[in-house]
Amino acid sequence: LDSFDVIVVGSGFFGLTVAEQAASRLGARVLVLERRGHLGGNAYSEREPTTGIEVHAYGAHLFHTSNTRVWEYANRFTTFTGYQHRVYTVVGGRVFPMPINLGTICAYFGRHMRPDEARALVAEQAREVERAEAANLEQKAISLIGRPLYEAFVRGYTHKQWQTDPTELAAEIITRLPVRYTFDNRYFNDTYEGLPTDGYTTWLRRMADHPRIELRLNTDYFDLRPAVPESTPVVYTGPLDRYFDYCEGELGWRTLDFEQEVLETGDFQGAPVINYGDADVPWTRIHEFRHFHPERDYPTDRTVIMREYSRCAGRDDEPYYPVNTPCDRSILERYRKRAAQERNVFFGGRLGTYQYLDMHMAIASALTFVDNQLEPHLRDRGAAA
Ligand code: FDA
Repeated sequence: LDSFDVIVVGSGFFGLTVAEQAASRLGARVLVLERRGHLGGNAYSEREPTTGIEVHAYGAHLFHTSNTRVWEYANRFTTFTGYQHRVYTVVGGRVFPMPINLGTICAYFGRHMRPDEARALVAEQAREVERAEAANLEQKAISLIGRPLYEAFVRGYTHKQWQTDPTELAAEIITRLPVRYTFDNRYFNDTYEGLPTDGYTTWLRRMADHPRIELRLNTDYFDLRPAVPESTPVVYTGPLDRYFDYCEGELGWRTLDFEQEVLETGDFQGAPVINYGDADVPWTRIHEFRHFHPERDYPTDRTVIMREYSRCAGRDDEPYYPVNTPCDRSILERYRKRAAQERNVFFGGRLGTYQYLDMHMAIASALTFVDNQLEPHLRDRGAAA
């Protein structure tokens, strides 16, 4: 381990961006350690062997950004298709576009409304609860969009996501519920959007493909930790509480269970993602991966679907979304103090900072981290040596 200038723990987008920049721009020799048997963190995808359909192994990953630096950086490793994400939701046997837009509102109330009429109707229904007095998530949601839309599109889905009745969830979990008073049903508003033409894993592999980067899979940092020279900077993107051996307590996460199936049909649902809003349907959504790449030559008689279920994570589950209760925030504060005292270890990425990051955010924060922290750190050490 003596021959490396930097050790990066984790090969997700944060870790790989740091490794790539350190190797190509700073001339550093980088060792990337990855606990799993593949690179790429949660953005990893693979071809389902019997159909060749690309499956996002840890849930659907849609790339979108308005950050030109991130877009140009990503385009060094992959081209993107023109895919634009659109989502539908099934409620009470009917289908509506999401997020809630004029099309959703007109379909739900069963009549044509102009934007001003729809706005006035929602405002009138939202008056039932005074926003400042909302004592729980249900009341807050009603104060934002009114009871009918809340009951149809938020209550059941939220209940399934949190496995908790929305009347028992904190009002602060939502600050806004976006409603668009146009028929625009694009899911994202960003300047750039698309899916990597040759898949996520090809993109991620190209990032790691540099003569000064060594990637070790199936290698847990904590097994090697005693052998890591004290003088070698470590960029740690694993769970923050795990790094400190949970000494301040465990940070709460939600996890997802995925159930994948190959079906003998060329098209199961006619869309890449359909949400299920009813509380009595156990899954939150179904992904059908062929629809992410209509340009590909996939089989016409088979398809791959993945049902998604949400629940609280135990220590051995994959942590996906921070729960972020007041208790979590106070634990986080204590870990942050400890992290700040580590002289040669930097914490980054979604697990290392306990925050949900989209891919473009993980890349952006890694680029900034290299500029503002790693480069000066390596320069100072070089000067010292
Ligand atoms: P990430 O979790 O990807 O990588 C961390 C890596 O560290 C993992 O590979 C892990 O195995 C490794 N590791 C941890 N501990 C270790 C140890 N002790 N030793 C060695 N290795 C260790 N974003 C987006 O832009 N569009 C989208 O549609 C989605 N969709 C989406 C769905 C779901 C279900 C989730 C959970 C997330 C998304 N994302 C997303 C977010 C996206 O997955 C996220 O931005 C990136 O995973 C962040 O990359 P990181 O490198 O921070 O973490």
